[in-house]
Amino acid sequence: SPLSLTELKALVRTVPDFPKPGIQFRDITTLIGDGAGLSSSIHHLAKIARAKGAQKIAGMEARGFIFGAAVAVQLGIGFVPVRKPGKLPIKTIGIDYTLEYGTDRLEIDPDAIADGERVVIVDDLIATGGTAIASAKLLRMAGALVEDAVFVIDLPDLGGTDRLHEEGVTVSTLIDFEGQ
Ligand code: PRP
Ligand code: MG
Repeated sequence: SPLSLTELKALVRTVPDFPKPGIQFRDITTLIGDGAGLSSSIHHLAKIARAKGAQKIAGMEARGFIFGAAVAVQLGIGFVPVRKPGKLPIKTIGIDYTLEYGTDRLEIDPDAIADGERVVIVDDLIATGGTAIASAKLLRMAGALVEDAVFVIDLPDLGGTDRLHEEGVTVSTLIDFEGQ
């Protein structure tokens, strides 16, 4: 039987002062390096994505690929890679978005999604929500119906969940790290 969410949380490694002093980095390397941790994470994410009626899964480069593709396999549906710029060999559509420091850009294949297809976003972690909001907008530009996003980890102090709700995206998470 799958590990409980409490057991999953215990497999996440906390690294102090990365990438800069004062930040507690929640590292999934230890979670996915554990066979039961990896398969149980996918089990719990896939159960939610199935209940949301996912017809396709979108995952964000890089850590969203690990969980998103596995969830898609579990549900027997396709996977859409949301890529960092300059990687896809075709005419892409892209969106620039603001980070805490500076800006970033995500790109997809505009033909990756059929019109009105229900796409569920999967990523390892939601912090400010910036990456997921940009992804939802981009997928919608390509014709997707995006109403749900699923994450392994929530950092509730950073407010991402509320921001996604304001954009019409319901957030589900397996575990959270509050405070500090
Ligand atoms: C991390 C994480 C999420 C995003 C969450 O990705 O994997 O995708 O940040 O932050 P946000 O909610 O504030 O947008 P990152 O781009 O750091 O790197 P990765 O390539 O390792 O996934
Ligand atoms: Mg990421």
